[in-house]
Amino acid sequence: MLIDRLWPDPASDLDDEALLAVTRMPPGREWLRMNFISAIDGAATRDGLSGGLGDAADRRLFDLLRWPADAVLVGAGTARREEYAAMRLDDRAVAWRTARGLAPHPVLVLVSRTLDLDPSSAMFTDAPVRPIVCTVPAGSTEDEDRAQRRERLAAVVEIIETGADDVDPLSVRTSLARRGLRHVHGEGGPHVFGSFLAAGAVDALHLTIAPSLEGGSAGRMANHPTATPTDMRLASVLRSGSELLLQYVRG
Ligand SMILES: NC(=O)c1ccc[n+]([C@@H]2O[C@H](COP(=O)([O-])OP(=O)(O)OC[C@H]3O[C@@H](n4cnc5c(N)ncnc54)[C@H](OP(=O)(O)O)[C@@H]3O)[C@@H](O)[C@H]2O)c1
Repeated sequence: MLIDRLWPDPASDLDDEALLAVTRMPPGREWLRMNFISAIDGAATRDGLSGGLGDAADRRLFDLLRWPADAVLVGAGTARREEYAAMRLDDRAVAWRTARGLAPHPVLVLVSRTLDLDPSSAMFTDAPVRPIVCTVPAGSTEDEDRAQRRERLAAVVEIIETGADDVDPLSVRTSLARRGLRHVHGEGGPHVFGSFLAAGAVDALHLTIAPSLEGGSAGRMANHPTATPTDMRLASVLRSGSELLLQYVRG
């Protein structure tokens, strides 16, 4: 799982500090970055999961990218499908964060319209910090079951209501920033990425290109009814074997 930097300033076998430096976002500004893995042919999953595409280098960076974040944003579909655990970083990450004045752990922020999330899952019960669920206001979906789910969830999370039929990504950012959560790291999935892109709410993308042609019918990493071409600028290129780890910022 050696990771080299190809560009800028080629260097071999970067340690974690060097990886954190090369993937660093401007600390003085609010930012929202997404992290994805894709096969060469654009498939975002293997056997329905992103983990099938990744290797040890991708997992190493996946973990490190959480370190500087105030919040980790995840769509409900990804949390359910990938069986998300509590947002609890290891001791080394906690020491790194607290030395820099950050909270020991980032806040897990979920996006869901239906609120079909199990309040007894470890993602909530084992959380070191109360997670946040961003959803649409009651009334936009007149559903008694949803109202009950909302009530049960409210016992274990903070609920932010925004938007109408869809959660409004820009107002999610504003609401999080008001709570001091200015640096947001997103872990997908495709519908969250698509809706945040459509709203112009994504500043950067960390993209691992897994050295594989998957074929099949797996979807790609951004999915929204409205196409929103967004120019991106290449910021760094890392490599581990035949895998590329690319950082793009909004152009
Ligand atoms: N390749 C990668 O790096 C990567 C990363 C993450 C996930 N994935 C894969 O992607 C698949 C899941 O895809 P997905 O598109 O379903 O994931 P997703 O974007 O995480 O979840 C979609 C769900 O999020 C909620 N949602 C998203 N945008 C919303 C909005 N603007 N307003 C209200 N709710 C919103 C809805 O939740 P409710 O249904 O609860 O209303 C929606 O059904 C899994 O197979 C996962 O493994 C791949």
